[in-house]
Amino acid sequence: MLKIVKDTDPRMRKKCEPVALPLSEEHDALIHEMMRYLKDSQDPSFREKHPSVREGVGLAAPQIGKLLRMIVVYYPRGDKYPPVELALVNPKIVTNSIRKAYLQNGEGCLSVDADHPGHVIRDFKIKVRAYDAFAKQDVELVARGYDAIVLQHEIDHLDGILFYDRIPKDNPFAEPPNSEAI
Ligand code: CO
Repeated sequence: MLKIVKDTDPRMRKKCEPVALPLSEEHDALIHEMMRYLKDSQDPSFREKHPSVREGVGLAAPQIGKLLRMIVVYYPRGDKYPPVELALVNPKIVTNSIRKAYLQNGEGCLSVDADHPGHVIRDFKIKVRAYDAFAKQDVELVARGYDAIVLQHEIDHLDGILFYDRIPKDNPFAEPPNSEAI
């Protein structure tokens, strides 16, 4: 099973390398393994068998010790819609909104065990370009609100940035103008 690198490890602060395309068999297997881990982490019976596994909605390659620009995201969206499932290589935020957003209850991270209360201020809407490892093609996607927050959290990992870096130091529970609580 994949071992999650914690934020105390200096690798979590490194800038990750772009991944060569087309994806090598090794990198393709790796991103599938990351998605498998994420899905397993959401399965209560799996967590019961593996008590060290915490539930997550996103995972970036540096979190498994690979300093590569690859992320996976997976979470349900209720009964009416399919789950969000993304396996992105070399994701890049190409445009972002002036409007900000933050999760009312703060963010968490599989690599962070300590509690870091506060609002993680992010962009409400982003446009991302990436290579989709499952569709095997370049994609451009627009994300808003929660979807945008999760993507920004994972893409930050590729540049060695952790969610608590973005909590305002002077006022952790700041509600900036033009921002929305989610
Ligand atoms: Co994280």
